[in-house]
Amino acid sequence: MRIVRAKDYNDMSRKAANILSAQVIMKPNCVLGLATGSTPIGTYAQLVEWYNKGDLDFSNVTTVNLDEYKGLNRENDQSYYYFMNEHLFSKVNVNHERTFLPDGTEKDSEKACADYNQIIEDVGGVDLQLLGLGHNGHIGFNEPGDVFKAKTHCVDLTETTIKANQRFFASIDDVPRQAYTMGIQTIMQARKILVVVSGEDKAGIVKEAFFGPITPKVQASVLQLHPDVTVVADEAALSLVK
Ligand code: F6R
Repeated sequence: MRIVRAKDYNDMSRKAANILSAQVIMKPNCVLGLATGSTPIGTYAQLVEWYNKGDLDFSNVTTVNLDEYKGLNRENDQSYYYFMNEHLFSKVNVNHERTFLPDGTEKDSEKACADYNQIIEDVGGVDLQLLGLGHNGHIGFNEPGDVFKAKTHCVDLTETTIKANQRFFASIDDVPRQAYTMGIQTIMQARKILVVVSGEDKAGIVKEAFFGPITPKVQASVLQLHPDVTVVADEAALSLVK
């Protein structure tokens, strides 16, 4: 595991974007595994800037995202598809037919998960997987538990998450109760992994996940076993690590 120390959020974003763009330049038809959340927003903005300068070409790139809310369609501004479109897909020349997320509108969870596993297999697996890190060590929607779940599965969101999400919806009944997420085996099968972390509030979990014991109670700790992981973190997130 390589830890790259960045000065601040902007520096983290630039360093992470450098790694992603190197992947796209080295293998123009690569498969990028992508994440939503607040941490990678700056990374996507940096990629868009380089694309606008003519330094990057996404025309042969395929993308597969980590997760999607069950019950939300692509037009819903809380869906992860909407997020990706807003921050990246609509701003670069990626072929929209080659951008994949779990299908939030599929009511049959088993089918949604099996279909997504098939898509990942059909595209030949992930070359570079970008990950954010949850405060409880989750990656994708793989929450602390007793096991590492292998493949794409449907997760019940916790009451805390549902309540926290309520502010984005008209009423609590509109808040998704479940999400589809890539599993840990699929994430671990990515040929390279890039984790972005920023902020002092993540310092504790950075230490636990990357320097503590490997346990499903801290799902990201499994990344210590992957042969090619780069963690790009800012000084605040690394403040508890020597
Ligand atoms: C996003 C995802 C999540 C986030 C994590 C960190 O697709 O699957 O695991 O990466 O919750 O989120 P932020 O970056 O908002 O702190």
